Amino acid sequence: MDSYDVLVIGGGPAGYVAAIRAAQLGFKVACVDAFERDGKASLGGTCLNVGCIPSKAMLDSSEKFEMIQTEAADHGIQVQGASVDVSKMLSRKTGVVDKLTGGIAFLFKKNKVQSFHGYGRLVRQDEAGWVVDAAGTEVVARHVIVATGSNPRELPIAPFGGNVVENSGALSFDAVPGKLGVIGAGVIGLELGSVWRRLGAEVTILEALPGFLMAADDAVSKEALKQFKKQGLDFHFGVNITAVQQDDSGVTVTYKEGEQEVNARFDKLIVSIGRVPNTAGLGAENVGLELDERGFVRVDSHYRTNLPGIYAIGDVIGGAMLAHKAEEEGVALAEMLAGQAGHVSYDAIPWVIYTSPEIAWAGLTEKAAKEKGLSVKTGQFPFSANGRALGHGDPRGFVKVVADASTDKILGVHMIGSGVSELIAEAVAIMEFGGSAEDLARTIHAHPTLSEVVKEAALAVDGRALHI
Ligand code: FAD
Ligand code: NAI
Repeated sequence: MDSYDVLVIGGGPAGYVAAIRAAQLGFKVACVDAFERDGKASLGGTCLNVGCIPSKAMLDSSEKFEMIQTEAADHGIQVQGASVDVSKMLSRKTGVVDKLTGGIAFLFKKNKVQSFHGYGRLVRQDEAGWVVDAAGTEVVARHVIVATGSNPRELPIAPFGGNVVENSGALSFDAVPGKLGVIGAGVIGLELGSVWRRLGAEVTILEALPGFLMAADDAVSKEALKQFKKQGLDFHFGVNITAVQQDDSGVTVTYKEGEQEVNARFDKLIVSIGRVPNTAGLGAENVGLELDERGFVRVDSHYRTNLPGIYAIGDVIGGAMLAHKAEEEGVALAEMLAGQAGHVSYDAIPWVIYTSPEIAWAGLTEKAAKEKGLSVKTGQFPFSANGRALGHGDPRGFVKVVADASTDKILGVHMIGSGVSELIAEAVAIMEFGGSAEDLARTIHAHPTLSEVVKEAALAVDGRALHI
């Protein structure tokens, strides 16, 4: 039986990064991953195959189409007869995905990570370590890392299939749906709802909660709702979905909104109501691997499960279901296995929603900071007072800095606007160093750039923004 120092089950951002980092540190490593696209092995998990990457490719394509239709003329560019070729758009998206998933296979070879395609199943413990069935071959490993990720949560009354789709179906409609229903006004609902609205669909989003983007700062979610409504997304909050029936031509969703019962008819329905841990086929029961009441693998702060030598990271342990959080856990765990001090700064994880305008934040919202009993001061600065944003033709949104009133330490930074997915990195770096609003305000930012809005928001914490 082949033996490894580290065997990783799952080749998504958590697993493939853990495997590469462990190999860099001198371990003999293998990774077993079951993901298939069009019947072929495809490393990279949810993120690269049916998540982060294809959704951003479609967001970019659809944004360009909308820009040509609604903004080009303002720049003095006349375009007649712009139209969408959905199959070309999808094949471009697939090309991007192919390049990146193939890149992981290349990185595995480069780092001498042995790759198995198929399921990894925990079998038993013997004197050499944990025996795992890796795609039909038994191997043994001293350390096993479970990085099996997550799956879309199904609504029991609306099982996936036909015109009721989850993320991967919603990224591959072969034509623009006339009427698109979305259940869940979360990250996927907003991103994929935006894609198809820009391409011409009439999009209705049905959300159970009474509020919108509750995890974001109130000022950001208020502005976001205003902008998305203006674009034509039709939101219904506080709804209770009572029935979903599909036939050959579409889907009828019955829901209660207040006292009113509504029957809405859609061509396609995206159900995006969160994700659940994926432990099917893992063989947790064979070895007594402990899961929590929601099915996540239970771990301590060092990613140790209840079984010595078995660890878990990424979506399958819960917390923020984000690729960069999963990757950081992969690095931290590999370093801990090598006797180093791996560490993930959970307080400074950036969140980004790639809509237009984009939304990004890190750290505490103003409300959360106050609820923690902290005294806060805030500074806010709009993109409408920034030269570069006006040059771009997109002055929507603002940056808000939340700082501790007594120490000036930055507690959180919240952004909505064009390009904020990139601007948030500066805020995260300052927060990682325990920096203050003054540090940010005194840092030189190139002119003219959107990043000057971040500096001005930091200046505004002390009431000394210059350009407003
Ligand atoms: P996964 O990526 O789910 O990978 C797990 C892998 O393990 C899969 O390949 C799976 O097939 C395999 N596997 C499962 N069980 C077994 C087994 N027993 N044996 C072998 N293999 C197994 N996050 C961001 O940070 N930014 C984004 O922009 C973003 N966009 C997203 C868009 C969409 C539409 C979706 C659905 C998600 C998005 N995410 C985004 C979330 C991100 O994809 C996940 O947080 C990330 O993929 C989690 O990584 P992971 O490695 O833990 O799990
Ligand atoms: P989500 O947790 O972001 O949003 C789910 C929404 O569905 C919530 O608002 C919830 O209240 C609502 N909901 C739940 N049950 C409902 C019901 N029965 N009826 C109506 N509404 C209901 O989950 P989503 O959008 O599925 O995304 C899953 C995860 O994937 C995200 O939490 C995020 O971690 C990750 N992701 C990250 C992205 C990014 O970083 N840009 C992009 C897309 C996904």
